[in-house]
Amino acid sequence: MSNSPTQIELIQPDDWHLHIRDGAVMKDVLADTARQFARAIIMPNLKPPVTTVGLAKAYKARIQANLNALGISAFTPLMILYLTDTTSVDEVRKAKDAGIAGFKLYPAGATTNSDAGVSDLKHCHAVLEEMQSVGMPLLVHGEVTSPEIDIFDREAVFIDSVLEPLRQHFPELKVVFEHLTTKQAAHYVRDAIIGGKNTIAATITPQHLLMNRNAIFSGGIRPHNYCLPVLKREEHRVALLEAATSGNPRFFLGTDSAPHAKGAKETACGCAGCYSAFNALGLYAEAFESQGKFDKLEGFASFFGPDFYSLPRNTQKITLVKQAQNIPAELPLGDATIVPLRAGETIAWSLVEN
Ligand code: DOR
Ligand code: ZN
Repeated sequence: MSNSPTQIELIQPDDWHLHIRDGAVMKDVLADTARQFARAIIMPNLKPPVTTVGLAKAYKARIQANLNALGISAFTPLMILYLTDTTSVDEVRKAKDAGIAGFKLYPAGATTNSDAGVSDLKHCHAVLEEMQSVGMPLLVHGEVTSPEIDIFDREAVFIDSVLEPLRQHFPELKVVFEHLTTKQAAHYVRDAIIGGKNTIAATITPQHLLMNRNAIFSGGIRPHNYCLPVLKREEHRVALLEAATSGNPRFFLGTDSAPHAKGAKETACGCAGCYSAFNALGLYAEAFESQGKFDKLEGFASFFGPDFYSLPRNTQKITLVKQAQNIPAELPLGDATIVPLRAGETIAWSLVEN
């Protein structure tokens, strides 16, 4: 493939990290994702969190009802359970039998709706042992939460104090290091030594490929560019771009699109999360184009995720064209509105709608 094309055809991508919430807002955000992606990993940080197979089945049924109402038949949600200090070994077995795609580790207090998260991984040893033995992936929000650790260092400290000891203890456990934000994380995943099987992978969001931390403060406070883990320095963005466009199968697409109503972002204590689902593929195309690496986009967006999760690759194709798309200032979100990433601006690449 030429590296300066005006049209690209790809096997349809999946989103390996997505928040769609629940209730009235779900339909609006689901429609944006299902326009572009065939499948998505559905994050379980609802209130209350999705901690059991029973809750995941009920959540999946609500997602299916919304897909039916939207007339969408070609989208598959992949369900994830929220790991807690009290998750049982039996729940892991049930999850495996029920086709749950993984468990999510939120260190308690790390981000939106993470109060029920794990206070110390020592409470989870038997469960992790079982996950390792049945091949159940652990998806990690990689930040420590101690107040004395600077917010910009939380990911790097997590690698040394939590992730590396975890992987030493459970070398066969499949781990997805979610939404990388630092050079340290990109290099850790790239260089991790593994046994015969690939046991580590990582997702990368569009905002961390396209923006550095200046974007939170340019000309004033920009709440819609605030997410967790927070945007980092330019050198980290450069390292993430290099990782994503390297063709290394350990790195794949996960938007972490995290909808919050406009009023919950533009307030004295605004929520963390960027809404990138509206034109996520256009955003990723822009990032890959900036590196002249379009030939690496399909692997990142469409192949490496299913390969890691041991799921079949999609076979249907989608087309992106170099045709500027205006991003609306606001979009409907239930009874409220949401401000998408790059609101009021244009994105060079658009999906050709069938
Ligand atoms: O910015 C974020 N928003 N990071 C997360 O880890 C959670 C997410 C959310 O659910 O809003
Ligand atoms: Zn997330």
